[in-house]
Amino acid sequence: MKPHILAVDQGTSSTKALLVDGAGDVVARASAPLSQTHPGPGLVEQDALALLDGVHATVSTCLRAAGPCTVTGVALSTQRESVVLWDSVTGLPVAPLVSWQDQRGGERAARLAAEGAGEEIRRRTGLPLDPMFSALKMAALLDEHDPSRTRSRAGRLRLGTVDAFLLHALTGDAVTEMGNASRTQLLSLSTGDWDEDLLRVFDIPRAALSRVVSSTGPFGRITNLPPLASGTPVLAVMGDSHAALFAHAGRREGIVKATYGTGSSVMTVTGSPSPSDSLCTTIAWSTPDGTTFAHEANIRSSGRTITWLAELLDTTPQSLIDLAARSGAGDITLVPAFGGLGAPWWDARAVPVLIGFDLGTDRRSLARAALESVAFQVRDVLAELPGLDEVVADGGLTRSDALMQLQADVADVTVARARHHELSAAGAAHLAGLGAGLWTAAELEERADANRQVFTPAWDEPHRQAAVARWHRGLEAARALGSG
Ligand SMILES: Nc1ncnc2c1ncn2[C@@H]1O[C@H](COP(=O)(O)OP(=O)(O)OP(=O)(O)O)[C@@H](O)[C@H]1O
Ligand SMILES: [Mg+2]
Repeated sequence: MKPHILAVDQGTSSTKALLVDGAGDVVARASAPLSQTHPGPGLVEQDALALLDGVHATVSTCLRAAGPCTVTGVALSTQRESVVLWDSVTGLPVAPLVSWQDQRGGERAARLAAEGAGEEIRRRTGLPLDPMFSALKMAALLDEHDPSRTRSRAGRLRLGTVDAFLLHALTGDAVTEMGNASRTQLLSLSTGDWDEDLLRVFDIPRAALSRVVSSTGPFGRITNLPPLASGTPVLAVMGDSHAALFAHAGRREGIVKATYGTGSSVMTVTGSPSPSDSLCTTIAWSTPDGTTFAHEANIRSSGRTITWLAELLDTTPQSLIDLAARSGAGDITLVPAFGGLGAPWWDARAVPVLIGFDLGTDRRSLARAALESVAFQVRDVLAELPGLDEVVADGGLTRSDALMQLQADVADVTVARARHHELSAAGAAHLAGLGAGLWTAAELEERADANRQVFTPAWDEPHRQAAVARWHRGLEAARALGSG
């Protein structure tokens, strides 16, 4: 029987599974939604066992849909920065997952910044001191569940990103992948391993963390993911955003990708890991060919803005996006600074604002403002990349033609959308299949180039400038209100 790769992408809003055949085609797919809770201001949590259940459910549905086949190996991509605290003996979580969107580390971040630690942390990790990254969440979890650090120091409690939690649950191994680890703010970019000084600064015992390995492992074998045969090897693990870049054939410098998921990420490979003022520097992936670095800009709320408004208006994201698509450009500006603003502003104090509405404002204009907020936020990041004329796009929201066209219009760039939106799973599958000899890098590049749909800018310059100026007035209000 022909070989296949089973790829699982554990995202913030859902888990997706893809079965990819030796030609690189998706032969079966499944997904399961994952909810989040907001137990207090700035707090965002998920149920770690529900997350694991979603992985089991999607794998089972996907493999049953495919029928009998040979799975050569498993590939995993995961939401990043979110943290699970679990018991290393029972494997059971001892607290809800703390989401990347969660702000509970804000106070400690402010304290470290006041002590002047921010610059050195950024130099070592490539990341600004911000509660989005895992270290501050880990410290907050330990403060609550192991204030003396006794159980974590003894290795009884384990802290990890979603990849580490899933690898422990599915293979029994205590390992984490380097790209994911580079988003914790505890990893040294120069050594690719935990940084002892940073562990001290954030008060995280090394014994509580898993061993860092490259994106191609070595990982263990699956022991518990029916109906997948026990003993199937895990061949590749990547951060979701990194995997999407890989699937766009973004191993070449100069390719810039934008992922439109719960949040958004604009990312490009860089030859040198030198820190940048407005962009994060991250380990994209580490393979037998070496370690690849990337520059990345993170936007906190893109798809999440759509789901938030859809819930509020008692409708579905799909209906809301359809409504927005039927509405012309409005006068309403929505700045979704839920938990502050990420790149390029990194303003944790900014607050959400809605400007320009009146008694005639209807659902349609609100929907339009929400969709526009996604395109404008990505536009502000793209504007930091001089000379850019094309961006490749993926993620759940790229199913919206209206968003893709709007992005091209407001950013004045060509937007090339991937053939399917689940590129995070595809990228992890691509890396796994490279190692297993299913395809070559040249074949992957050729397929990526051939499989894009292009949206070209249609607005004239005055129209674009007026729209961007309106957006920036909204941004100024969001930041001014937050700083007051
Ligand atoms: N029918 C649809 N058309 C377009 N967009 C949609 C549709 N249904 C849901 N969405 C949007 O897709 C988003 C989820 O995208 P995706 O599945 O890529 O995110 P995720 O992988 O769970 O999150 P992340 O990658 O940020 O961790 C939702 O937030 C929603 O706004
Ligand atoms: Mg995703």
